[in-house]
Amino acid sequence: MFAAYAARIDRDQPLNGLELGDRPAPGDRPGWTTINVKAASLNHHDLWSLRGVGLSEDRLPMILGCDAAGVDADGNEVVLHSVIGQSGHGVGPDEPRSILTEKYQGTFAEQVAVPTWNVLRKPKELSFEEAACLPTAWLTAYRMIFTNAGVRPGDSLLVQGAGGGVATAAIVLGKAAGLRVFATSRDEAKRKRAVDLGAVDAFEPGARLPQRVDAVIETVGAATWSHSVKSLRPGGTVVISGATSGDRPSHAELTRIFFLELKVVGSTMGTKDELEDLLSFCAATGVRPVIDEVLPLDRAREGFEKMASGELFGKIVLTGS
Ligand SMILES: NC(=O)c1ccc[n+]([C@@H]2O[C@H](COP(=O)([O-])OP(=O)(O)OC[C@H]3O[C@@H](n4cnc5c(N)ncnc54)[C@H](OP(=O)(O)O)[C@@H]3O)[C@@H](O)[C@H]2O)c1
Repeated sequence: MFAAYAARIDRDQPLNGLELGDRPAPGDRPGWTTINVKAASLNHHDLWSLRGVGLSEDRLPMILGCDAAGVDADGNEVVLHSVIGQSGHGVGPDEPRSILTEKYQGTFAEQVAVPTWNVLRKPKELSFEEAACLPTAWLTAYRMIFTNAGVRPGDSLLVQGAGGGVATAAIVLGKAAGLRVFATSRDEAKRKRAVDLGAVDAFEPGARLPQRVDAVIETVGAATWSHSVKSLRPGGTVVISGATSGDRPSHAELTRIFFLELKVVGSTMGTKDELEDLLSFCAATGVRPVIDEVLPLDRAREGFEKMASGELFGKIVLTGS
């Protein structure tokens, strides 16, 4: 079957390791379901994989892609939860948690297999392209805001790096949940789009906000860390799930963290329950993922290049040709 996969690890030029071509279709495995992929979406995770973060040479070649929506063998329209081993279903109780593409082949292919427990019904209100955006970036944003940020309607939220998949999700979900959302972006056009999505206002990275916020959604890392900490009200929470610009900020702001009793909360992906709730939330509220571009799978390289350059706003979706 046709697939986009990591053939080599290249830490400096990750796209050198990306190949498009024929890979074996998934075989039958008890307790697992094969899905015919209709749409899959790109995440920064796929670039990290090509750099060897979370993916070792001995696991290559590895089909990339953590997210997908498609059709199962019975014709059901489904979405997959890409955290494998969290529950033991389909892999046994002792297997540690992994995300698709770390151990098991991913979704940038005509077919993908996951434990049957990881298969959820796609709400009819969502297209395959929309549903394919939800299992990683949107689920991560959902858990960051609703499980880990400690906010409630009326509270304020800062979202760093407005153009990213997690960031656009956080702006849209935060607005829909009645939060007062501020955003930052390096790019003026993206700042305007963040406001169009529902942010009260958007600023250049590092700018002083009109108020201190209750929580910050942090995925940029080193480049914005200091600003995130300085933007919090006393007792506020910075939730971090990524470090696109590196994980060694020049100033960790330790004094401010203890003196103002700030909370730093790590967050990774989300549970199957949270994904079910996110699907219902989108179906019930009319909230839809922000899609930058839909490309056929055989043009996956263009999507990877766009993500590597940071010149995207929202999700890149790959569809079967
Ligand atoms: N822990 C988890 O479960 C989990 C899940 C999903 C994602 N993540 C991580 O979260 C991060 C974002 O993921 P994503 O898929 O949303 O990625 P993405 O779409 O590629 O987001 C990148 C965004 O980061 C912003 N950015 C700001 N300063 C940057 C800099 N100096 N260098 C590069 N980018 C900069 C950019 O926003 P502007 O151009 O608007 O400034 C850009 O749009 C990644 O590191 C990813 O690995 C973690």
